[in-house]
Amino acid sequence: MILPVILAGGTGSRLWPKSRAMHPKQFLKILSDNTMLQETLLRLDGIEYLDPLIVCNEEYRFLVAEQIREIKLHCEILLEPEAKNTAPAITLAALHAVETNPDAILLVLAADHQIENIKNFHQSIYQAEQLARQQKLVTFGIVPHKAETGYGYIKRGKPIEAGFLVEEFTEKPQIEKAKEFLQSGRYYWNSGMFMFRAKDLLAEINQYSPETLSLCEQAMEKVTQDLDFVRIQDEAFTRCPSVSIDYAVMEKTKNAVTVPLDAGWNDVGSWAAIWEVTPKDNNGNQLTGDVLVSGSSGCLIQAEDRIVSALGLKDTVIVDTKDALLVAHKDAVQDVKVIVEKLKQSQ
Ligand code: GDD
Ligand code: MG
Repeated sequence: MILPVILAGGTGSRLWPKSRAMHPKQFLKILSDNTMLQETLLRLDGIEYLDPLIVCNEEYRFLVAEQIREIKLHCEILLEPEAKNTAPAITLAALHAVETNPDAILLVLAADHQIENIKNFHQSIYQAEQLARQQKLVTFGIVPHKAETGYGYIKRGKPIEAGFLVEEFTEKPQIEKAKEFLQSGRYYWNSGMFMFRAKDLLAEINQYSPETLSLCEQAMEKVTQDLDFVRIQDEAFTRCPSVSIDYAVMEKTKNAVTVPLDAGWNDVGSWAAIWEVTPKDNNGNQLTGDVLVSGSSGCLIQAEDRIVSALGLKDTVIVDTKDALLVAHKDAVQDVKVIVEKLKQSQ
């Protein structure tokens, strides 16, 4: 059976000031009455799966436990002492899984994506499972519609069952490359969700990032379990290189395949992405809270505690919270993370 592994340790800094270090976007109700983590878990309803494993920072343990309790699911929560990006997080999950189930098939999901068509999503999962059973590392490919530089790109090779061999995987290319990829019509975006047998992933990590494997193994040696919380040993884990699975394995492996996913996927990574996926008024404005506008169009404006008014604005993002205000052009919202970095340095 499928073991969902939910990666919930990111900081979601591009959604500042709503998303904060102590309360990142996966734990917020961004697009519905459920938080993004809850949505991620609930959209598995309908497939057969084992109790999910959530991997996140130690600091988020109570938030996660509470959010799972609210939706009445049972999950294990693997706690990292420090964020080391996705390669170490997935390696820990795979090591934990093989202890009890040597043939475990992991479905690795980000905790902060939107998927509209659940039926198509489940169908791609079942197709991916068939390929994962044949020792493939499965990615889910999204047909790209713009030259986005924040995603990985997958070059489609020969067909294999419901998918394709991955001829080349390029993580976050420069804009020129992204444009080339888009025009060629042979590339998918990497959705950031994966499916593989835990032991196949560990073999690849061993080949391409042996240090990560050996440090994660050491970290798992002194694992302690306290109710649903699985705690690892800090010292070894903090020495792990900080690297994403995309750079550590997916760009290098020869065993990757991709299964197309046509399910209204969106990684909801920025304020512009949120504007794109949420309903707007006749002028293309997406307004939340006490907002008054006149002569404005294409804006996303969120008010929290006070009235926000906007006059004569175009394509502008305004997010007002108790202690911080963001005003940005919609084309500049990727740079919100630059501001967050500056804030971190000044603290
Ligand atoms: N547990 C844990 N620990 N989770 C983490 C950590 C960590 O240190 N760092 C990130 N995550 C979680 C995030 O919360 C998110 O759910 C997921 O892992 C992916 O991390 P991101 O930081 O959002 O990655 P990305 O968006 O830059 O890139 C990935 O996703 C793109 C699609 O959205 C890559 O896989 C790209 O290739 C892909 O196109
Ligand atoms: Mg992301």
